[in-house]
Amino acid sequence: MIPFNKLGWAFHRFGKRIYPQEVRQSLCRFLDALPSEAKVLDVGAGTGVLCELSLACRDDLVLTAADPAKGMLQYCGEHVQTVVAPAETLPFDNDSFDAVLMGEALHHFRDVDAAFLEIKRILKPNGMLFIYDFNPKKLKGKLIAKGEILLGEPGNFFEPSILATKLATFGFKANSEQYGYRYTLHAKMLPQ
Ligand SMILES: C[S@@+](CC[C@H](N)C(=O)[O-])C[C@H]1O[C@@H](n2cnc3c(N)ncnc32)[C@H](O)[C@@H]1O
Repeated sequence: MIPFNKLGWAFHRFGKRIYPQEVRQSLCRFLDALPSEAKVLDVGAGTGVLCELSLACRDDLVLTAADPAKGMLQYCGEHVQTVVAPAETLPFDNDSFDAVLMGEALHHFRDVDAAFLEIKRILKPNGMLFIYDFNPKKLKGKLIAKGEILLGEPGNFFEPSILATKLATFGFKANSEQYGYRYTLHAKMLPQ
């Protein structure tokens, strides 16, 4: 397993490098659709890189960062509320957030289905989900996936169209944008 709890300093120092310009622009386009002072939850937030990039898009967002590793969360900025929790059991009421973000985190979740059920529960009606991850069908994505599995991580990497199909079973409509071996996915909860 990757010892995230001890790696906060490294993600704090180098974490932004994992987010190229196209991914930052995709994030800003996603956030544009939210109401003013929207409540946004970053799941698997680590040191809060995605929160920081979100605030660079829009400074009115009310951000919460959730992650099981306290040693990562301690580096989050002062404008971000932090909560120690895994994606599979989020300590929030139903219908609490306008949007959920996941940056390079989904593939670390042990139980992806449980995480999506939780995200659906805590999102408001018409809530939105942003995912950034690596495509295991591309060479670099495949190498990252193999490396992580060797390190004892779950390696839950999805090809974007398969992830979109999976999200449909949880009531989301999703569109992906691909940038080489990286992709973003913008999803919206359909009316029940
Ligand atoms: C590669 S880091 C990415 C952190 C951050 N999102 C970023 O972009 O810098 C993956 C994060 O997923 C977290 N993580 C691992 N298992 C998790 C789980 N079951 N639920 C939520 N987060 C988890 C780790 O603690 C770590 O902070």
